[in-house]
Amino acid sequence: MAKLTIEGGHQLSGEIKISGAKNSAVALLPAAILAKEKSTIFNVPEIRDIEYLIDIMNLLDCKVTHKNDALIIDNTNLQNKPIPEELSVQMRASYYFMGALLAKFGRVEMSFPGGCNIGARPIDIHIKGFEELGAHVEIIKNRYIITANKLVGKRIYFDFPSVGATINIMLAATGAYGTTIIENAATEPEIVNVASFLINMGIEVRGAGTKKIEIVGTKETKNGIVEVFPDRIETGTFVIMGALIGKDLRIKGIIKEHNEALFMKLDEIGVKYQIDEDVMTISKCENLKATNIKTLVFPGFPTDLQQPITTLLTQADGKSIIEETIYENRFKNTYDLNRMGAQTNILTLNKLEIKGPRKLVGAKVIATDLRGGASLLIAGLIAEGTTEIENSEYIQRGYSNLVTKLTNVGAKIEITE
Ligand code: EPZ
Repeated sequence: MAKLTIEGGHQLSGEIKISGAKNSAVALLPAAILAKEKSTIFNVPEIRDIEYLIDIMNLLDCKVTHKNDALIIDNTNLQNKPIPEELSVQMRASYYFMGALLAKFGRVEMSFPGGCNIGARPIDIHIKGFEELGAHVEIIKNRYIITANKLVGKRIYFDFPSVGATINIMLAATGAYGTTIIENAATEPEIVNVASFLINMGIEVRGAGTKKIEIVGTKETKNGIVEVFPDRIETGTFVIMGALIGKDLRIKGIIKEHNEALFMKLDEIGVKYQIDEDVMTISKCENLKATNIKTLVFPGFPTDLQQPITTLLTQADGKSIIEETIYENRFKNTYDLNRMGAQTNILTLNKLEIKGPRKLVGAKVIATDLRGGASLLIAGLIAEGTTEIENSEYIQRGYSNLVTKLTNVGAKIEITE
């Protein structure tokens, strides 16, 4: 397992460029099989999840070639095959092949991982959506066999605005007869990114980014082209680092509208920053103030920044309360944060109390999940002494070229296998 070693206390100065969004890219690759023949996806992040998806596409005889930061995807020889367990359980986002293969071939067979470290994360909303479109879903243990003689467009209501289900049903609906309307859809920017790809393929998609999305099914698509949006969660993670230990740290590639909730909270905490077009300049702030945060679906405060901002709040004066409303088990990073000197206390399954400011001291810690690992990495950057983070593969899954980016702005960080 890889280990990150960080020597704390080194200021971050210089420029970090934000990479393409993981949570867009992992949907855009499976979506590319819907294109007529070829697709180009620009600004793809260099993360392991992308390689896992390329492995699955290669299995389906879909040719994927790298060209600088772009992927060229060629469907000429694409064929449907059952996706073996060892490939599809590598990552949750492999479930986007369900919607894409169902639309393209009317059948998909793959295994799907159960819960993960932050919660049960069922896919019942996805499955209900496929069934509403006329698919038959058979589940044997964690093996899914989904078939449809004919997908027919329908008005579908989501009990919860699931990001994954919104994208998955959007993909499936492209292969349905007639129009599908998703009510109570998720509105995250990633959905707009995927919709723009489908529209470029000649598929009629309206309302992406709102609670109501209309998709007109078609059998005729064109070649696709799309650029991955900058990653709003990577942005937030680096912004939080800048607020704690930056010195005129410049973060390039910011889309303000994607991070409004974070910026509002930083204002409440007393973090000073400047944004010029798509560049934020931020330095270490003194006299941080405690605040309360409730994670919500977009445009509310993103759950994926809950663990990173917890580290910021360990340095704020007073008592902060975080309410995590999206996942049921997303405070696992606090055990090791406390071992580093933080004072956090899990009040209930979804409520965390943080008292500060508290001096952090380096320690040997373990990443429990992607954003929990990011929280510990941020702590290591500001702690006195050295921090070692085991299981740091988790962190590398969501942040491309992380060690290089941080080293280039002055961090003392290295990775050892
Ligand atoms: C996406 O996961 C992101 N992952 C997550 O980011 C992110 O936390 C989440 O959206 C919320 O913004 C990717 O895009 C690959 P959901 P997803 O479906 O699609 C429940 C990260 O750190 N739910 O909106 O799985 C589910 O259990 C990751 O980058 C059902 O109950 O999120 C969860 O509690 C972590 N049934 C809540 O909804 C379903 O069928 C949100 O899930 C689907 C979801």
